[in-house]
Amino acid sequence: VYPNQQIAAINVAKRIAKLITDKQTKNEQAILGLATGVTPIGVYAELVRMHKEEGLSFKNVVTFNLDEYYPMQPTAAQSYVTFMNENLFNHIDIDKKNIHIPDGTLSQAEVVQFCLEYEHKITSLGGLDLQILGIGRTGHIGFNEPGSAPNSGTRIVTLDDLTRSDAARDFGGKENVPVKAITMGIGTIFKAREIILMAWNEKKAAIIKKAVEGEISGDVPATYLQLSDHVEFMLDEGAASALT
Ligand code: F6R
Repeated sequence: VYPNQQIAAINVAKRIAKLITDKQTKNEQAILGLATGVTPIGVYAELVRMHKEEGLSFKNVVTFNLDEYYPMQPTAAQSYVTFMNENLFNHIDIDKKNIHIPDGTLSQAEVVQFCLEYEHKITSLGGLDLQILGIGRTGHIGFNEPGSAPNSGTRIVTLDDLTRSDAARDFGGKENVPVKAITMGIGTIFKAREIILMAWNEKKAAIIKKAVEGEISGDVPATYLQLSDHVEFMLDEGAASALT
């Protein structure tokens, strides 16, 4: 638990930077699982600062984003492609061919194959070194909503009503929020060698309490993280305020 989200975000960015530079010394790639949303914005801002001011290079970094709305054009303002470009990728020296974000433009039939290939690509690179996560008020990680199976893989899912309400502002009304999304599964996330879940603000306190102290259940997908021995929750005092 950190005094505030700025300090917490800087610490997450330092962890990512250390992973990248450790891999550089070994001439290896760092395979990162990335999240969108409000939560990681400060982490990405700090990584951009480290790139610009401290010469942190992302040449050896390969990224896999957790999710994307479906359907979604990459050029749309609300797409996670736009989010990642604006908050991180446009400001660093990552090789664009190393960036992977679920493709919201495919037909339903194509999505099935795409999801299998997404999993395969992660595995063929040796798996994710580090996955960063936010948490939704439904307890979702990625877009693994209540009811998701612990061994689920990358797939197309239906968004929970609360998730669509929370996204309504970005889309100018809930009716414009896509009903579906493509997401890495809980099983995909679990295979990462390190997992960091971040949450800031008292608004997240109730769901963080359930995720950390509640019964492990598909009703709150983040509770599955209790079963992992390589997961950390990095919280500000607000998000941690309901923990006993
Ligand atoms: C985003 C994602 C979601 C968000 C969650 C929290 O890629 O997978 O699980 O992390 O909805 O969103 P924010 O950070 O906006 O509160």
